[in-house]
Amino acid sequence: MSLFTFAASPLVITPTVRSFTFSPPRCSKQTVMSAVRSESTSTCPVLTKFQKNCATPTTFLRVVADAIADDMQAGLAVHGGGDLEMILTYVDALPSGKEEGLFYALDLGGTNFRVRSVQLGGEEERVVATKSEQLSIPQKLMIGTSEELFGFIASKLADFVAMEEPGRFRLEHGRKREIGFTFSFPVNQTSIDSGTLTKWTKGFNVSGMEGKNVVACLNEAMEAHGLDMRVSALVNDGVGTLAGARYWDKDVMAGVILGTGTNACYVEQKHAIPKLQNQSSSGTTIINTEWGGFSKCLPRTIFDQEMDKDSLNPGEHLYEKMISGMYLGEIVRRVLLHMCQTSDLFGQSVPAKLATPLTLKSQDLCKMQEDDTDDLSSVGSILYNIFEVKADLKERRRVVEVCDTVVKRGGRLAGAGIVAILERIERETKRLASGQRTVVAMDGALYEKYPQYRQYMQDALVELLGDELACHVQIKHTKDVSGLGAALLAATNSIY
Ligand code: BGC
Repeated sequence: MSLFTFAASPLVITPTVRSFTFSPPRCSKQTVMSAVRSESTSTCPVLTKFQKNCATPTTFLRVVADAIADDMQAGLAVHGGGDLEMILTYVDALPSGKEEGLFYALDLGGTNFRVRSVQLGGEEERVVATKSEQLSIPQKLMIGTSEELFGFIASKLADFVAMEEPGRFRLEHGRKREIGFTFSFPVNQTSIDSGTLTKWTKGFNVSGMEGKNVVACLNEAMEAHGLDMRVSALVNDGVGTLAGARYWDKDVMAGVILGTGTNACYVEQKHAIPKLQNQSSSGTTIINTEWGGFSKCLPRTIFDQEMDKDSLNPGEHLYEKMISGMYLGEIVRRVLLHMCQTSDLFGQSVPAKLATPLTLKSQDLCKMQEDDTDDLSSVGSILYNIFEVKADLKERRRVVEVCDTVVKRGGRLAGAGIVAILERIERETKRLASGQRTVVAMDGALYEKYPQYRQYMQDALVELLGDELACHVQIKHTKDVSGLGAALLAATNSIY
């Protein structure tokens, strides 16, 4: 696990430093390398129109942040009140550091599945030992049956436990192995250890699972594999990130994921949640916003609309489809295809691979944007390798402009979302106004591996919050901390 801490030094971003603190006076603009600056203007009519439609000036981002805030309020008032589900997670107590014992984390939420064991040694020793294993989920399981998916998970878990080194990991006598299950899809949580899937996202579409208790599915599969383990906490990856980061840093108030999918979870005051009704209204609890479902006033182009129509979850998670890693490459591909069909981009005929969905990934966009050679040679080779086209310099430049337009829009919209969360926290706590450091724990490959995206996100954040407040915000890159968070929440909610 890598946690980066920073003194209040001027904001400098390098590709290897992914956490930052905002310090006034703002230092000169970005240090991120980019083949195309956002100011560049195009002479291609399709591109010019696309750029215009994707524009996100500060005034517009303010409208977006306010609309997200309104939907947060509506979702806190009543179940289904707004686009954001504002799910009650039943996590009222975050890790204190005193947790002890052996706990496990299972993480299902993207293309990979992870299992981790954590031996906790209390306040002094903290994490005594940890071991993890990551496996990719075969594509067919993402769209198969729940028995197949959970059977696969249980069998890998059984292998993992069978390989445990008794010297390093010690289960107390008479106890079952307890698991924190990170399930990174929208769940209607009914208690800390149960919840029903509301819908699939991120390319998953396992049949017959919507409305089912995901913990019961896992329990059945574990039983079938002879595994005597117990799920003590069901958590979202955003919640896991918040909890894991809070273990090391008491100022963490939110967990944000910018990866294949996206989400934000934060610490809310219970008295500010009208839908809690009969429950105790003192103290705090964690809200899983499921902000990917936000849909109002977004700058959606025809390319976004068509991509959504062809997706596995049409009409759902529209904000996610503009800002997260799974979709950025596909939007760019669709724009390029249109430019190719309506102008002479890439010659007279349409290359077959350009017409094939999902061929372009956000990593490819990043590599193209980072190309600082005079002739954009890596842009040329990426286009050749993926689409089998020989692009001249003018075409390469256009392609990078399209990438920049999509990534700038995504990063800036993500920044507006983070501001909505920070302002919500601020409303109740006045932390920033009183000069208190406020940390957003951040995870996800898009954020980690795309410097230009990060830069656009930061720019938007400072533009909207202003230097005075932004200088107390730290965005802390907390890679893979959600597994630790889930194991800690299993400890906090242990039955023993
Ligand atoms: C899911 C969230 C999850 C996020 C990041 C979204 O598609 O709806 O539950 O936290 O992806 O993994």
